[in-house]
Amino acid sequence: MFLDTDFIPPKYTQTVEKGNFKWTAPSNIALVKYWGKKENQIPANPSVSFTLNNCKTITKLAFAKKEDSLNFSFDLLFEGQSKEDFKPKINKFFERVAHYLPFLKDYHFTIDTENTFPHSSGIASSASGMAALAMNLMSVERQLYPAMTDEYFYQKASFLARLGSGSACRSVKGQVVAWGNQANITGSSDLFGVEFPYVIHDNFKNYQDTILLVDKGEKQVSSTVGHDLMHDHPYASTRFAQAHDNLDKLITIFESGDLDAFIKVVESEALTLHAMMMTSMPYFILMKPNTLEIINAIWKFRNETKVPVCFTLDAGANVHVLYPKNVSEKVLQFIQDELVGYCQNGQYICDEIGNGANQL
Ligand code: PMV
Repeated sequence: MFLDTDFIPPKYTQTVEKGNFKWTAPSNIALVKYWGKKENQIPANPSVSFTLNNCKTITKLAFAKKEDSLNFSFDLLFEGQSKEDFKPKINKFFERVAHYLPFLKDYHFTIDTENTFPHSSGIASSASGMAALAMNLMSVERQLYPAMTDEYFYQKASFLARLGSGSACRSVKGQVVAWGNQANITGSSDLFGVEFPYVIHDNFKNYQDTILLVDKGEKQVSSTVGHDLMHDHPYASTRFAQAHDNLDKLITIFESGDLDAFIKVVESEALTLHAMMMTSMPYFILMKPNTLEIINAIWKFRNETKVPVCFTLDAGANVHVLYPKNVSEKVLQFIQDELVGYCQNGQYICDEIGNGANQL
């Protein structure tokens, strides 16, 4: 089993004055949801996600040795413009990971970041953003310690991303990533995400995710607050046990390609996530009327056509419509005809399963 201390590096063997890297990392969509955490971003239950392909963050990191090693020093640019209000989040991230990246105070960093999806689309950029930053920082560390293995490089990148935003640890690799200790998933860990290590049926290759933008506004309740509310939640222990069960079910489903069983697990997980929000104290609702309209329309369409399309939700009102590639044409027509009207300004994003972070 891995321990936190496994990610404290040995003494660096090289010195580097300056340099720059550029990485892209995608967003991901959970099938079994992470909701509730312990100290240090340790998940209360395991989760599994599809890595996305098109919704990505692209981050350039330039670094140059500075005179002293007293403090963190960085500039933050978003789409080329200085972005002061993102700085506290990065500063907090640096504080959390400094123990594992002892070079952090030796350099001044310029972090230049942009997303491929529209700003304030309601799509969280924390997963892709933290993953892209973590990849860049690992590239710096690899220069200081070239003997590190590729496996360590990716594992530690996921470990660092997790400390930035839990679900970000699932954005380093593709195509299906599990995070959190699960007895039946060899190599699984609370500390980082792992590529799903078992057979995945062809039905899930090129799986599609069309994200319907129902509400692009700021969430009234952040994920951080939502996770916290699981601490005194009356259904917490049952929910955490259910996540383990659902993950076990998915192992079998991924192998058999049973789409009906897949739909049952995935939709139940989405509604359970929101049920946890509605039954916490204080309680809250992130779905909007149009979220429900879309869910009902999907159920009706599936009943009538037998097309295996389903939905999932993250911590917001937007709906992720999931379906196999071979029914794309039918589902996109259905979205055009019946669902676009429920989207804010008719906006939606076509995405699909992808391979994880990439160096540019
Ligand atoms: O990574 P966070 O702290 O933003 O939490 C994300 C939680 C969900 O998106 C609702 C579920 C998940 O597993 O991604």
